Amino acid sequence: MSVIIKSAEDIEKMRIAGRLAAEVLEMIGPYVNPGVSTGELDRICHDYIVNVQQAIPAPLNYRGFPKSICTSINQVICHGIPSDDKILKKGDIINIDITVIKDGYHGDTSKMFFVGEGSPANQRLVEITQECLYLGIDLVKPGARLGDIGHVIQQHAESNHYSVVREYCGHGIGTVFHEDPQVLHYGRPGTGLELQAGMIFTIEPMINQGTRFNKLMKDGWTVVTKDRKPSAQWEHTILVTETGAEVLTRRQEETRFGQ
Ligand code: MF3
Ligand code: CO
Ligand code: CO
Repeated sequence: MSVIIKSAEDIEKMRIAGRLAAEVLEMIGPYVNPGVSTGELDRICHDYIVNVQQAIPAPLNYRGFPKSICTSINQVICHGIPSDDKILKKGDIINIDITVIKDGYHGDTSKMFFVGEGSPANQRLVEITQECLYLGIDLVKPGARLGDIGHVIQQHAESNHYSVVREYCGHGIGTVFHEDPQVLHYGRPGTGLELQAGMIFTIEPMINQGTRFNKLMKDGWTVVTKDRKPSAQWEHTILVTETGAEVLTRRQEETRFGQ
């Protein structure tokens, strides 16, 4: 495993890419309403990334992915393909996952939205999943191990009677979309890669209300829960600093990272 330690110049460009990705999530929020199609959300994000940000939507044509963002509704765990036929309805939960490339560098982030009001069960799933991400981020500092992060996420999810998806994970990121290391969302403390300042990777836990098992749909992308119960995911791109973590994709609504 070769994990790249980013230079000061790399980090400056990753800050910009991360901010742009966060801004797409902030921009799209008001459009996430009953009656809108995920195809329309894709077009709005695509046009914003290309025309306003003068950046590139990384998913488009990535390994054959046909759209510019991922939209994963209810039982879809990740990599849902936007479509004009997929209309959001009241009570849905949706993850929108944005990756932009600016000046050659990637920023990758996702969040959950409620369409109308969420059911208490879905609100709880979404909230616990966000806590899983935040608990992981709280452990990021030089000397910590990736297993520490995986463990705290797994612990929080399972103690709330949820399950952690194992087949998909966080990843190093920079000029390459998915690079080493793999960031598992389960694990044992004191194991795995030791973090060093200058590493940049995502944490992006996928947490299921039912079992952890999943299945790839015939389109070759859409991952769904095997039991068709809902799944939630939140993602940030994170820099390991000398003293802790800098969340490169922080949104304005997130006041907790003290940046
Ligand atoms: N953004 C996703 C991630 O968090 C990857 C999407 S790849 C795509 O790693 F091709 F589906 F867009
Ligand atoms: Co990612
Ligand atoms: Co992503």
